[in-house]
Amino acid sequence: MGGHWKNCTEHPEFHLVAFSRSVKLQFTLFSGTLLVYMLAIVGNIVITILVCLVPQLHTPMYAFLCNLSVQDIIYVSAILPKFLVITITGDTRISFLGCITQMFLFVFCVGTEFLLLTSMAYDRYVAICIPLHYALIMSRRTCIILAAVSWLIGFLDSLAQSWMVVDLACYSIQDINHFYCDLKAMIKLSSSDTKVIRTFLSVVCVVLGFLPFMLILTSYAFIISTIVKIRTTTGRVKAFSSCSSHLIVVILFYGTSLVSYMKPESEASQEEDKLLSLIYTAVVPMLNPIVYSLRNQEVLRSIKNIGRKCSTCKLGLPG
Ligand SMILES: *[C@@H]1O[C@H](CO)[C@@H](O)[C@H](O)[C@H]1NC(C)=O
Repeated sequence: MGGHWKNCTEHPEFHLVAFSRSVKLQFTLFSGTLLVYMLAIVGNIVITILVCLVPQLHTPMYAFLCNLSVQDIIYVSAILPKFLVITITGDTRISFLGCITQMFLFVFCVGTEFLLLTSMAYDRYVAICIPLHYALIMSRRTCIILAAVSWLIGFLDSLAQSWMVVDLACYSIQDINHFYCDLKAMIKLSSSDTKVIRTFLSVVCVVLGFLPFMLILTSYAFIISTIVKIRTTTGRVKAFSSCSSHLIVVILFYGTSLVSYMKPESEASQEEDKLLSLIYTAVVPMLNPIVYSLRNQEVLRSIKNIGRKCSTCKLGLPG
């Protein structure tokens, strides 16, 4: 272990230096984030409940979507409430344990989401390219295994990363230049040796980011080549619309995370980086349910059905 020559604190309390302090900006950030947070929670809860209640939605695609919604609820709740409190009170303190918990949940959910999106791409590939074997291949058992493996790998990865950060121990600066305890921002503050954790992060980036991305691209290459070969236009539209929601979510999710990780670092762009991160963490989870429900006849129809049932209930009540 090198670098113990600097003054440092072991497991200190941190300060989340979110955004530059201008009252007007704080207010906009607070109300915007609160709105997005509530929409994300409500939208994802609605999706989860719908998928559980409506038998037509008991398909692998919606089961995975339900998994995504649960992930989204966990990770926005790990980060945004604290950010809201910081923005409104101006008290930027966060305990070491609080920080590690935030980081753990965030890394856990993001890692798992990459894998769930990959499982969903595989599901679409089987549905469109080998439809005759769909029921056989995407059996209940396969789906449970795919989902369980996604959660498990996400969990182990996050556990390892959090462990390493706890192990870093020695921090010479306590101001985290971010709106949540971001791993990369925390590593910068440590005066312990961060070589191991940096190497681990590069490996994780390839295994949980790049590799799933390649698998998704491959699935879509097959899907597109199959769709192009379909003779009728209606058939083509139907096949494409069954995977368009997933494609939009993949582009949103990978687009924002690729941009934020590939961008060269500079002091001037740090505010932009944080704003981009805020969008990536808050807006994307809010969009998932919207993309899936608005673009999807099955979901819309279930919502209408439930609405109709409710109004008949009300009408049936005496008085
Ligand atoms: C996650 O997906 C699996 C596999 O399709 C499904 O059995 C399970 O119910 C889902 N869990 C949640 C919480 O959505």
